[in-house]
Amino acid sequence: MSENAAVPVRLRAEVLAAPAYRQGAAPTKPGFKLSSNENPFAPLPGVLDALRRRLDVNRYAGAAMPELRAELAAPFGVGPERVHLGAGSVTILYQLVHAAAGAGDEYLFAWPSFEAYPSLGLASGATPVPVPLAAGARHDLDAMADAITERTRAILLCTPNNPTGPAIARADFDRFMARVPATVLVVLDEAYREFVTDPAAVRGEDVLAAHPNLVVLRTFSKAYGLAGLRIGYGVGEPAILAAAQSIAIPLSVTGIAEAAARASLEPAARGELEARVAVIVERRDALVAGLRELGLAIPEAQGNFVWIPEGEGGVADAQTLAAAFAGAGTLVRPFAGHGVRISVGEAESLPEVLDIVRRFLG
Ligand SMILES: Cc1ncc(COP(=O)(O)O)c(C=O)c1O
Repeated sequence: MSENAAVPVRLRAEVLAAPAYRQGAAPTKPGFKLSSNENPFAPLPGVLDALRRRLDVNRYAGAAMPELRAELAAPFGVGPERVHLGAGSVTILYQLVHAAAGAGDEYLFAWPSFEAYPSLGLASGATPVPVPLAAGARHDLDAMADAITERTRAILLCTPNNPTGPAIARADFDRFMARVPATVLVVLDEAYREFVTDPAAVRGEDVLAAHPNLVVLRTFSKAYGLAGLRIGYGVGEPAILAAAQSIAIPLSVTGIAEAAARASLEPAARGELEARVAVIVERRDALVAGLRELGLAIPEAQGNFVWIPEGEGGVADAQTLAAAFAGAGTLVRPFAGHGVRISVGEAESLPEVLDIVRRFLG
């Protein structure tokens, strides 16, 4: 629908004023799609077979999915009552912000970060409060703690940070949490957790027990390569998850997503997952090294993407670089005024990315 189309019924002005989430574009000519942090590999072994066996799509899935929740709870050392499933972790972000923050309330996040964050509270009327990243494109946790007011109801921490790459260090997380009131919800968004190689990075499993106000978010969309099936989960206090469930659209997690997730957790699939994650990490690190050799100040990359900043140490204009990529048939994600995010994709995309950037820098 065009943005200017006449609206025949009375809708909320703040909703009409809001831009919709913009998905990474698909290539229009042969090239690589490196704009959505997707996984270049096919689903893990056993997943397609599991989907073929789950043929009862004329039925609603049993929403409780106790076996899957128990499997996901185990690494956290908790029971299934502490796991909440959603049709993608972004739906749980939405539910949590809505459960915590209404009109007149605020929710905090670093910026730039996951592009969905600013609009999550839109329908609830909550005010998004972006806090600029610090040097090295890292979370400025001191500034975020300083930004907490009596109206703050939720804080979203993205680690590693999409789109810039650094992970939050455990020690910094601990210091930050000591400054957050126990009544404020903190969401640790670990969508890219599996790609983290920094041993000093915070891990949801290690910190959940100490913080009843913390919910850890994970997804099957990235390392597991199930973005199109839409399944993610949150781990935390049952009372907080029950509130998220109250906001959830009923029956939105499908049976085929459940079957794919469970097949992805089988031992053979887990072994292959580790091998694939290692390949993506190797490509990521090679991309970072290659871009640094071209003289760019690339921040630490802990996800399945790398960040070329705009300005000092980076390129003069993010949009122009993204246009140069598009002209060559490869799509990346520009963040106007901030930088360009390039997802780690197929092996053949690496020399292509480096060539495009080399030519761009002249
Ligand atoms: C930081 C972060 N969180 C959450 C999501 C949502 O992932 P999904 O809804 O596919 O689980 C994304 C997707 O790109 C992301 O980058």
